[in-house]
Amino acid sequence: MIVMTELYDIFNTIIDEFSLKGTLASIYPLSSGNINDTYIMTTDDDGFERQYIVQRINHLVFKNPNEVAENVCKVTDHIEHKLRESGADDIRRRVVKYYLRKNGEHYYVTPDGNYWRAFSCVYDATSADFADIPILRETGLAFGEFQKNLLDFPADTLYETIPDFHNTKKRYDDLKKAAAENKSNRLDTVREEYDYLLSMEKEACVLCEMSEKGELPHRVVHNDTKCNNVMFDTETGKHLAVIDLDTVMSGLVAYDFGDAVRFAANPGGEDNKVLSKVYLDLDYYSAFAEGFVSEVKGEMTEKELETLPDGVLAVTLELAARFLTDYLNGDVYFKCKVPHHNLIRTKAQIQLAKDVFGKMPELRKRLADILDEKS
Ligand SMILES: Nc1ncnc2c1ncn2[C@@H]1O[C@H](COP(=O)(O)OP(=O)(O)OP(=O)(O)O)[C@@H](O)[C@H]1O
Ligand SMILES: [Mg+2]
Repeated sequence: MIVMTELYDIFNTIIDEFSLKGTLASIYPLSSGNINDTYIMTTDDDGFERQYIVQRINHLVFKNPNEVAENVCKVTDHIEHKLRESGADDIRRRVVKYYLRKNGEHYYVTPDGNYWRAFSCVYDATSADFADIPILRETGLAFGEFQKNLLDFPADTLYETIPDFHNTKKRYDDLKKAAAENKSNRLDTVREEYDYLLSMEKEACVLCEMSEKGELPHRVVHNDTKCNNVMFDTETGKHLAVIDLDTVMSGLVAYDFGDAVRFAANPGGEDNKVLSKVYLDLDYYSAFAEGFVSEVKGEMTEKELETLPDGVLAVTLELAARFLTDYLNGDVYFKCKVPHHNLIRTKAQIQLAKDVFGKMPELRKRLADILDEKS
């Protein structure tokens, strides 16, 4: 816990180190999660109020914070350049700016080893913790536009800050290894789930196979495509900027699409014990897809667009495999808030995967209709 006086000292140093404008007026905590502690800082710049986002990052999660920062800077600089090129207005609210220290470094590191950084604030804007259909459409537009602005960015120049993040084959290998080792002695209790996941290995790995054969291009993927990582205009609800770019890497666009749908279009949530509440809401799916596709249609390959629904299934199976792996390994990776949390999560993701699998023809049909409409 950082006491307020300490915080004021740190923020005053940050203003100086990152050459931010004005003098410290107030600090307001926005969120405190696993990864970041986020604050909105207001400064008084000769009577003019300025706002900045200041974050303390969990450098234990990201083993190489400088590579993370370089990825974020490259991507946001490129988006800013594209926005300027296209004559967009309100650019300060359409993309975040990562401030550098006077010495060119990305972080201010306190003597006790905490990493702090500063961003421009997307002002008069809010993120959304829960999605409804209009929010999902806007979220789709935001991530579609993100893709569009990065189409000509050389994705493979980004650092792979989390190796094999969406390497579904590797995730399945990890699951098999965990079952073989059976460290927690739980394998007998999860046979049904384990057998189901193995029976779906081909479907789960279809995108990895295509990627290996060179059939799908590598794009810049965000890797955390949730609506709380999009800022919306407080008044109009329209999307402004995509934030939380720490996991940007090279990858397949279907995983970004799939993860957004997996997370937001399941009304039951990620760890609901009541499995009847876990399903894919097709109207939510359509809303996200409409937004997303309207931005990228004609810009991506046909095959890439066709495989978007496969991403929903792949990412759901992959996450189920990761939860089950952790359960078999004795809950060493994901934080467990209730007993057998990883098993509850596994069952919910399997339930969702089964529902998605049954609805694949409808997902494909709806996507094809959206693609037709937009042509
Ligand atoms: N540049 C910004 N402008 C305005 N608000 C922001 C900005 N960056 C972050 N926020 C707000 O702070 C919240 C948390 O920030 P962010 O998404 O970067 O952190 P996180 O990694 O999701 O953190 P956590 O671990 O708390 O979930 C966002 O959902 C958003 O409401
Ligand atoms: Mg976030």
